[in-house]
Parts: sequence; C-alpha cells; structure tokens
Amino acid sequence: MPSPLASKWTKVFVFLLCLGPFGFLVWRTFTGNLGPNPVEFYQHTTGDWTLRFLVITLCITPFRKLLKLPDLIRLRRMLGLFAFFYACLHFLTYLGPDQSFDLAAMWKDVAKRPFITVGFTAFVLLIPLALTSTAGWIRRLGGRRWQMLHRLIYISAICGVIHYYWLVKSAVLRPLTYAAIVAVLLLWRIGDWLIRRSRAVAATAKTQSAPAKL
Ligand code: HEM
Repeated sequence: MPSPLASKWTKVFVFLLCLGPFGFLVWRTFTGNLGPNPVEFYQHTTGDWTLRFLVITLCITPFRKLLKLPDLIRLRRMLGLFAFFYACLHFLTYLGPDQSFDLAAMWKDVAKRPFITVGFTAFVLLIPLALTSTAGWIRRLGGRRWQMLHRLIYISAICGVIHYYWLVKSAVLRPLTYAAIVAVLLLWRIGDWLIRRSRAVAATAKTQSAPAKL
C-alpha cells in the first residue's frame, strides 16, 4: 500500500496547516484582538513561528531515517519555505512599524544591537536557500554543491536561537529549550555522518583486501 505521505493531499493538508499561524494573525488583526502592543504581538508571533519552522525542517531528515519514512522528504522543501515566509513577515514587522522602512536607520540598528545583528544574519542566510530550493537549481548546482549550500540552515537555526536568547531578559527557558533541540538535531547529523563514513571506509578496505578473481 502506498504511504499516505506520498499522496498529494497530504502535501495540501500540511500546506494549509502551515498557513495556520498566518491565518491566526489575519484573524486577530481583523477582530482587533492584538493586545496592548500590536507590533510586539506580530513580532513575537512571527519570530516564534520562524524558529519553529526551522526546527521542524531540521527534524525531517532524522525522523525520515529513524522512523523509516522516506516519503517525509517530500515535505521538507515546503516546510523550509514556510520558515522563510514567516522570517520575511518577521523582518517586515521590524522594518515597517519599528524602523519606518528607513534602511539607513535599520543598518545602524543592525550594527548596534547584537541580537538584531545575529537575527539579521539568520534571515540573510535563508535567502539563498529559498532562491535555490527548486529542482532546476539542484540540477544547476549539482547535488553535492546544493547540499553544501543548504547546510546554511544549520547556521541560520543557531543564529536564530542566539537571537532569541539575547533578546529575552530573564525568561531563558524557551530559548534554551530551542538550543537543546537544535543541538540534538545537529549532533545526530554528525553521528550519522561518522557512521556512514566508517561504513564506507570499511567497505573500501574489504574490496581492496579481497583477492582478485582471475
Ligand atoms: C531566521 C531569522 C529569525 C528568527 C528565527 C527570529 C526569531 C525570533 C524570536 C523567537 C523572537 C521572540 C519571540 C517571542 O518573544 O515570543 C524574535 C523577536 C524579535 N526579532 Fe527575530 N528572528 C529572526 C530574524 C530577525 C530579524 C532579521 C530581525 C530584524 C532585523 C528580528 C528582529 C526581532 C525583534 C525586534 C524582536 C522583538 C524583540 C523584543 O520583543 O524586544 N528578528 N525573533
């Protein structure tokens, strides 16, 4: 039986689910239910969801391998693009209401406040990933180079966590929880890479030591 993950309807369902936080923001805007500080409400909601989508995207590969669900890969690109979508909204809520679209003031702020510098870095690193997320770009760059480039998501997630940690004054539990999750996901990848490498080395040694058939 084909996996439900291979169905296009699963993709449609996940797409609609990913739009949920955006729908929530639109609904809260139109019902005038944004709390005492609407800008802060937008910034916090979009910042939270950017980080959540980055983490969810990073979960796909380990879950795919550990749970033996190869078709999960079909959702990875969409989830990564949603991380970028919420990052764009987050950035716009900063550039618009916070900086009045004054790019010179924004640059000054990026240079002055370390938590903005590192958040901006996290955002900028996502741009090449979003631009090269298509099958055409995988072909153009070649699988290996494309994979190397897409490892920038790890740095973006680390910067996102530092950004969050630096902006909270005392409530460090949530940023530290994200830090722990991102650390586990990255360590799993390093472990997986080491295992694959040692298997490849063992396989090469076995072929070389096998007597040649005449
Ligand atoms: C991948 C990129 C980014 C991630 C993952 C991220 C994540 C977050 C998170 C989780 C929060 C806190 C939400 C909460 O308190 O519930 C936040 C707040 C904020 N972020 Fe970002 N962010 C990113 C990029 C940026 C960029 C590019 C800027 C501006 C240049 C920025 C400016 C802010 C500001 C101004 C706040 C609110 C700070 C406050 O309440 O004092 N972020 N971000």
